[in-house]
Amino acid sequence: MTRTVYVNGEYLPETEAKVSIFDRGFLFADGVYEVTSVLGGKLIDFDGHAARLERSLSELGMGNPTDRDSLLEIHRQLVSRNDITDGLIYLQITRGSDGDRDFAFPAEDVAPTIVLFTQAKPGMADSPAARTGIKVISIADQRWGRRDIKTVQLLYPSMGKMMAKAAGCDDAWMVEDGAVTEGTSNNAYIVTQDGTIVTRQLSHDILHGITRAAVLRFAREAQVKVEERPFTIAEAQAAREAFITSASAFVMPVVEVDGQPVGDGKVGPMATRMREIYLDEMRKAAV
Ligand code: PDD
Repeated sequence: MTRTVYVNGEYLPETEAKVSIFDRGFLFADGVYEVTSVLGGKLIDFDGHAARLERSLSELGMGNPTDRDSLLEIHRQLVSRNDITDGLIYLQITRGSDGDRDFAFPAEDVAPTIVLFTQAKPGMADSPAARTGIKVISIADQRWGRRDIKTVQLLYPSMGKMMAKAAGCDDAWMVEDGAVTEGTSNNAYIVTQDGTIVTRQLSHDILHGITRAAVLRFAREAQVKVEERPFTIAEAQAAREAFITSASAFVMPVVEVDGQPVGDGKVGPMATRMREIYLDEMRKAAV
């Protein structure tokens, strides 16, 4: 099926949508993005993603070609025009192009490029992986120092995903100075033997996950103890449970870290419960 996509103010068939070869997103990875999930035709945590987009743009001194309300309208149009029940909406804004390659940013009046497209994922919330859990390996974190900005520089995370696949696993947890930062495209958590959820604190070292914020809120509301601090791979291997969160995976159990089972090597009750609470609450609040 040919999707309808959104490019710089126009809804077009994907085969007709064009961006300049000089676009700074293409030449310099000079762009930011968001991924918002759709469940039952509605957007999950739209406001969280719109707020983080604003922050990413402002940290990079990049203009925002939209505002919250027009962005919501574009998202809804794409859901409806592409008949999406469950899936994802990808949004990218780059610093645009002034028609040549130059390391210096173009003049302020050069318009940013904005692109949105849908990815249909029927039954996304019933992923079989949520019942079996996933396996991760650890790799060195070789990304830049501003991982809190959601830029399109995703080469190293892609390489990490390939390293995981080559090892017969599903994803990689990145380690810096002996502690886990996050997964290639998700935030990482362990559940200690006394039932505390541990995840790295917010800083420039990790992306401030929108799913992370919601899951930690729901955990605290459910009287689950939460500690925001770094943890090691050895701690993860000795933990009762582990899991990841992201807009596309929601809450996903991790059952193996570097070849060692976590807990009994099966999906645990905390990850299952947090996934259920997250999906229930977010479906209720979807727009
Ligand atoms: N990735 N950390 C990294 C490095 C990420 O790329 C992501 C999201 C997250 C989780 O953030 P959120 O809960 O807001 O989705 C954490 C998206 C899903 C992606 O790149 O496809």
